[in-house]
Amino acid sequence: MHVTMIKKRLENGEPCQKCVQAEELLRRRGLWERIDEVVVADVRDPSSPGYLLASQHGIDLAPFFIVKRGEQSVVYTSVLKLIGEVLSPKPVEAAAGVPDAATLAAELSGRRPEEIVARALELFGSELAIAFSGAEDVVLIDMAVKTGKPFSVFTLDTGRLASETYEFIERVRKHYGVPIHAAFPQAPAVQALVVKKGLFSFYEDGHGECCGIRKVEPLRRTLASYRAWMTGQRRDQSPTRSNVSLVESDPGMAGPSGSLLKWNPLAFTTLGEVWQYIRDHGVPYNPLHERGFVSIGCAPCTRAIRPGEHERAGRWWWEEATKRECGLHSELNQR
Ligand code: ADX
Ligand code: SF4
Repeated sequence: MHVTMIKKRLENGEPCQKCVQAEELLRRRGLWERIDEVVVADVRDPSSPGYLLASQHGIDLAPFFIVKRGEQSVVYTSVLKLIGEVLSPKPVEAAAGVPDAATLAAELSGRRPEEIVARALELFGSELAIAFSGAEDVVLIDMAVKTGKPFSVFTLDTGRLASETYEFIERVRKHYGVPIHAAFPQAPAVQALVVKKGLFSFYEDGHGECCGIRKVEPLRRTLASYRAWMTGQRRDQSPTRSNVSLVESDPGMAGPSGSLLKWNPLAFTTLGEVWQYIRDHGVPYNPLHERGFVSIGCAPCTRAIRPGEHERAGRWWWEEATKRECGLHSELNQR
């Protein structure tokens, strides 16, 4: 089988947005390596190879894909259809073979985080996405890389992260050579909030609305293309996390085949053990940790803590401790 992707180059020389998005989706799903050849259709040059292929197949959409098996060629104009029918032909059978959350949690009880990560990737591969923002998540990425199995990584870029955090994300990308998909909030929703309430409304009426727009909606949108996700949540992080399980069914988030399986391999790991792993394995960390920051979120909602304070005391410090969740996890933990 030979798969060719035909991408369009616009009048101004820029690539077409839909082509860029299709490539991002393929990379996120760990399927980019399955595209054997990329051919450009330059709208300014009717003799460009992609343009000729488009006329030959009577296609005026971009991107499109030609799948060649022996003498036979089939054209796909939808990347999702290509993924479903050609690149990952057995999602349903694979899902059928996955034990339920309770069975997995029982099977993995007492096992080391490395073993839990390996089991998750064995079941889901790149259809599992690691949610990356903090120190715990890089530990998971380090463990995932060491399994040699495929996996995906995303980060929710709220637009309000500290510059040190952006540098840290970039360092992790380069250190492990893994693509990190950045999920951004919907511009119209951010604009409407900022026009109505300004840039710091969370100090006045709580962080729920801003987190809803900048984190929770992008998380839902991102997870819609995965079957499982993995987080760095720990039980000892907060009273709101004391029920976190190693594996949970996440009814709050839906992927293409229903509710997602949520993996928390560090549920029973302590903060001290996380830092021991970071030191032992030379794992990159956010430089803000050297300035008294422990749990790190968006810049305006995070501050350094004093010795003796709880690790999450620097998050949304103006609100009660029981409300210090942004909605990414609370639905499950507070059951
Ligand atoms: S939060 O709910 O208070 O923001 P916290 O910072 O403790 O969450 O992180 C817990 C886990 O949620 C992280 O280990 C990570 O898996 C996920 N997470 C939190 N923030 C983000 C983000 N911006 N992008 C991706 N994942 C995140
Ligand atoms: Fe908005 Fe603060 Fe939530 Fe970030 S943490 S999304 S800035 S309220």
